[in-house]
Amino acid sequence: MTKNDTAGSNVSVRAGSEPTADLTREGVTEISKELRHLLADVFALYVKTKNFHWHMSGVHFRDYHLLLDEHADQIFAMADDVAERTRKIGGNTLRSIGDIAKHQRLRDNDRESFSPKNMLIELRTDNRELTRFLRLAHEICEEHNDVATASLIENWIDQTERRSWFLSEIVSGQ
Ligand SMILES: [Fe+2]
Repeated sequence: MTKNDTAGSNVSVRAGSEPTADLTREGVTEISKELRHLLADVFALYVKTKNFHWHMSGVHFRDYHLLLDEHADQIFAMADDVAERTRKIGGNTLRSIGDIAKHQRLRDNDRESFSPKNMLIELRTDNRELTRFLRLAHEICEEHNDVATASLIENWIDQTERRSWFLSEIVSGQ
């Protein structure tokens, strides 16, 4: 932001206190709530994907290790977009690891021993579940006519379905 940007008549309107998009307050509240849950799920899935990337083993180690890193990068990029979209419409987003734990619906996996196949199956399940959550969030955006968030969600669904597809093809071929 430049010095001139702060000189306008809307200086008193702070992001977070007023909706910055032309949405109702109720819309901002409901969409932000949904996006906070989505962000927590995205972080949970990111850590799990990295966890399995790090702890992968077996004859397909290189392929799976690299695939999961690709997936993790994509998931991590999504996190920032989810959070910034929440701020853009005037809502608040997550602030800490504790906040993630309170909002996540996808579960962590702390098991010390887990086969490569089970890792891929669990990630496929989580990605499919994430698609379901994204569709629910999309419905809420449509209810409030938030076309921009809905449009972002459509891209995230496409990416998530692509990850599910890759994982599914590997698992079903075993
Ligand atoms: Fe790595």
